[in-house]
Amino acid sequence: MGLVLWSHILLPPLSRQKLPRFVANQAANNIIQDGKPEYLTIKGNWHKDFFRNQNPIVLELACGRGEYSVGLAEAYPDKNFIGIDIKGGRIWKGSQYALANGLHNVGFLRTFIQNLDVFFAPSEVSEIWITFPDPRPKQRHAKRRLTHPRFLQMYQQLLVPEGVIHLKTDNTGLFDYTLDVLKLLPTAGLVSTFDLYHSAWQDDHKGIQTNFEQKFTALGQRIKYLRFGIDAAVRNLDFDNAVSTSEAWQETYDFAPTDAAKLLHLADESAD
Ligand SMILES: C[S@@+](CC[C@H](N)C(=O)[O-])C[C@H]1O[C@@H](n2cnc3c(N)ncnc32)[C@H](O)[C@@H]1O
Repeated sequence: MGLVLWSHILLPPLSRQKLPRFVANQAANNIIQDGKPEYLTIKGNWHKDFFRNQNPIVLELACGRGEYSVGLAEAYPDKNFIGIDIKGGRIWKGSQYALANGLHNVGFLRTFIQNLDVFFAPSEVSEIWITFPDPRPKQRHAKRRLTHPRFLQMYQQLLVPEGVIHLKTDNTGLFDYTLDVLKLLPTAGLVSTFDLYHSAWQDDHKGIQTNFEQKFTALGQRIKYLRFGIDAAVRNLDFDNAVSTSEAWQETYDFAPTDAAKLLHLADESAD
């Protein structure tokens, strides 16, 4: 009681909200994060130790509050979903929803996406969704974009050979950048649209929208979508000691924020 009182007096409002969430996350059996024993042992063992079935595993990267992961889990009970984000205060929401609704085919992993290969073995994953990732518009941040070739190389290694990657974004700069990156890579089955909800693929998404998707849609933004597979030959490409084309597109994509939607993204980043 004394602790609660002091926390209300001493902590800024955001921390007061986060603290109980962090406590709940530590107790939640559907979250894997630093400090829990599974954090060190889960790689290669998601089917056996976490889901206790052999259903395909689908990741949502940058899941935020996890609406998409839980929505997909409800729509596809024969698949397993894992929402991944670094912000515990956000994944708390999806975790609590899943617990309250008895959804056993969805879990959450709190980590940096840069570390995915620490938590997943080769071919452990069937599908990856990247939903409204921070666009990282500055050219010097290009390597942090979740569709940078080095991220795509890592995703390919974790995916089954016929694995699929999906990207949903409002951000034209990031979308164009990603399409140009994909021109450099051995992709398969590329599908893309600048206006998902007026495209042939709108029904595939079952009307499930993420939190950011709802915000951007309300601002009148078109939702861009693409889907593709990557061949294992991507492992042989070297994007560090590149390749003139690689340098060319890095210079091209310093996409400055020019509208409200992009500014929303930047506001989100500054809260990191
Ligand atoms: C713009 S929000 C989108 C959240 C959610 N997908 C949505 O559409 O509502 C981007 C999210 O990515 C997470 N994020 C950004 N970079 C990350 C990284 N390198 N590793 C893990 N999470 C990251 C942030 O914490 C944030 O929740």
